[in-house]
Amino acid sequence: MKIELIDNKVLFNNGFSSQEIHPFWLRERVSNDKYFDANTQQRKFDPTFLKTDVEIKSAKINSDFLEINFNDGVNFRLEINKIIQEFSKDDLLIQSIKKSKWNSSFGNIDKFNYSDDIFESKKMYDLLINFYKFGFVIFKDVPTKNNFITNFANSIGSIRRTNFGEFFNVKSVPNPNDLAYTSLPLAPHTDNPYRNPVPCIQLLHCITNEVSGGFSTLVDGYTVTEDLKNKFKEYYDILTKVKVKFKFIDKDVILEGWSELIKLDENKEFKQVKFSPRLDFVPILEKKELDLYYKARNKLSEMYNSDKYKLEFKLMPGDLLMMDNYRLLHGRTEFDTNEGSRFLQGAYIDFDSTEGKLRHLKRKFNF
Ligand SMILES: [Fe+2]
Repeated sequence: MKIELIDNKVLFNNGFSSQEIHPFWLRERVSNDKYFDANTQQRKFDPTFLKTDVEIKSAKINSDFLEINFNDGVNFRLEINKIIQEFSKDDLLIQSIKKSKWNSSFGNIDKFNYSDDIFESKKMYDLLINFYKFGFVIFKDVPTKNNFITNFANSIGSIRRTNFGEFFNVKSVPNPNDLAYTSLPLAPHTDNPYRNPVPCIQLLHCITNEVSGGFSTLVDGYTVTEDLKNKFKEYYDILTKVKVKFKFIDKDVILEGWSELIKLDENKEFKQVKFSPRLDFVPILEKKELDLYYKARNKLSEMYNSDKYKLEFKLMPGDLLMMDNYRLLHGRTEFDTNEGSRFLQGAYIDFDSTEGKLRHLKRKFNF
């Protein structure tokens, strides 16, 4: 990949073909002191106020720099590497991490040691890569005092507060507003499908666990989606098409959100699953279409609940599970409150937290 000049035109050559770079694209990147704040890396000018028909009066390549005089009197030098970087899409860091499909044969579930300096370490970079590969990562020996989960969340990025509070306590209580706060088993589900936007990542921190049951469960919604697509295409098609209403009601708020159970991105690739069959309302459709929809939803539920896909493990005091709420479903097995206490704290962060931290660590360690 290189930059070439022909008759005051700047061309980007990717090794196979050349394309002209629009002069205004270059003009927007003027980074002289007068036009650009090096500290914040933000423009001091608003390019939408400029005429876009700017022309290049002269251009030359001087070792690693491209030097341009524009016809509006502005001259500048730009590092050629920086231009190439934008074309190479190297900054699509997250998209470049390939998701690994997994099921119940996942094998050993590693728990990674927490230390106070972990958030700025190379280890954190590796763990975040792991998180994007598998959709979860488990830390151990995370301090359990003083709602430490909020420190943890805010050390990766910023906590995402909801009407459940900055964080929430998962233990059985009388008159709960959600089944999470009982000792009943919880089938695999995603959290808060009724919010807009849905919280991206859930942190679940085990404070005490004295019961013999109460195992945590995880299912990879990505693996199930891919299997559904391969084996039951008709079901996959309708579940990626029909939007259902998710609803949460308590005395202070009514939250509603419409969404497909399997959400695809603009390239028709996996983006997100939502599954919470106690909270969803299917719209009225033609009977024939609903026939297919209900069959499809049952098949999906059968797969999510099948032992083939489910990981089951015990969170011990100090363990902190960080999971992608757009990709994984989580749940727990029943437990007996007479055996002792089971107390977990939960909180949410969004993808900008993990993505921002990952890019920062990549820059810091020059990876
Ligand atoms: Fe949950």
